[in-house]
Amino acid sequence: MHKVIFDTDPGVDDAMALLFLERHPDIDLIGITTAFGNASIETTTRNALYLKQQWNIAAPVAKGSAEQFEPSRHTHPFPAHIHGDDGLGNIGVPDIVDVPLDPRPAHQFIIDTVKAHPGEITLVAVGRMTNLANALKAAPEIAGLVKEVIIMGGAVDVPGNINPAAEANIHGDPEAADYIMIAPWKVVVVGLDVTLKTTMSRTELAELSGKGGAPMKLLDRLSQFYIDFYDGEVKDSMVVHDTCACVYLVARELFTTRGGPVRVLTTGIGEGKTIQKPDGHRFGPSVWDNAPSQLVCTDIEADAVMTLVKETLVRQ
Ligand code: BDR
Ligand code: CA
Repeated sequence: MHKVIFDTDPGVDDAMALLFLERHPDIDLIGITTAFGNASIETTTRNALYLKQQWNIAAPVAKGSAEQFEPSRHTHPFPAHIHGDDGLGNIGVPDIVDVPLDPRPAHQFIIDTVKAHPGEITLVAVGRMTNLANALKAAPEIAGLVKEVIIMGGAVDVPGNINPAAEANIHGDPEAADYIMIAPWKVVVVGLDVTLKTTMSRTELAELSGKGGAPMKLLDRLSQFYIDFYDGEVKDSMVVHDTCACVYLVARELFTTRGGPVRVLTTGIGEGKTIQKPDGHRFGPSVWDNAPSQLVCTDIEADAVMTLVKETLVRQ
């Protein structure tokens, strides 16, 4: 059984990833921590509570930081044109969801939970890396206690989606991303290199909606606005970014990976760009040299991944 803390900014594709984690039989979702990104921290936290309520999820929700790892860093507008003003496709999520929050801030929840289960917890992070960086900074010893960190973020061998250099989750807090990449723990980067290859069409979602009960019906409904946005790139379909990171947890054989330290540019027109120095690359010296080797996903068996996603989403 994989014990998981899910760090997320729901977020339409985050919602699919959450339902995948909740419904997969080999995953024990033990906590949800929220990040800002697809919407403000108030909105993404409200959305996490709403999904917890609607989907009857036992895992507690802990609210994440309202500011980036370096508070002075400039901010960017939230992508309401992709995820809706409410972050969940403008379906009319109630302003207040009557579900209690965990009293701890997200980074403290991560620290406490990792220390309570040494060597057992996988952190699956599909928003900005702010909470992970804050947890590491406050308690660096957790690096040796976390089983693995799997992130959706980055664009290593392909262009970004915020601009040609950077992917959104990394661009939103590059200092946090660099901090977690160079920490002495195992990071797996599931970025645009692979996530852009996994899509789900409106028709497929509607079919799943007929088989997966009320939770799948809600997922279908909240995804429509996001599909309208992605329709220009992938016909009548959505890109399944965040669920890919969750699939890696249970089916890593469907991914091709490359080892090597990863650094993140934090200044200039390329800020947020993720650059890997592949293991064995001889040139240097450089700031990559003393950083730990991390795994970057470079390819994916997209059909097999999507088959697993669809099977899991309709499990009841
Ligand atoms: C990532 O950015 C967010 O909009 C999505 O939820 C995903 O985590 C894709 O770049
Ligand atoms: Ca996300």
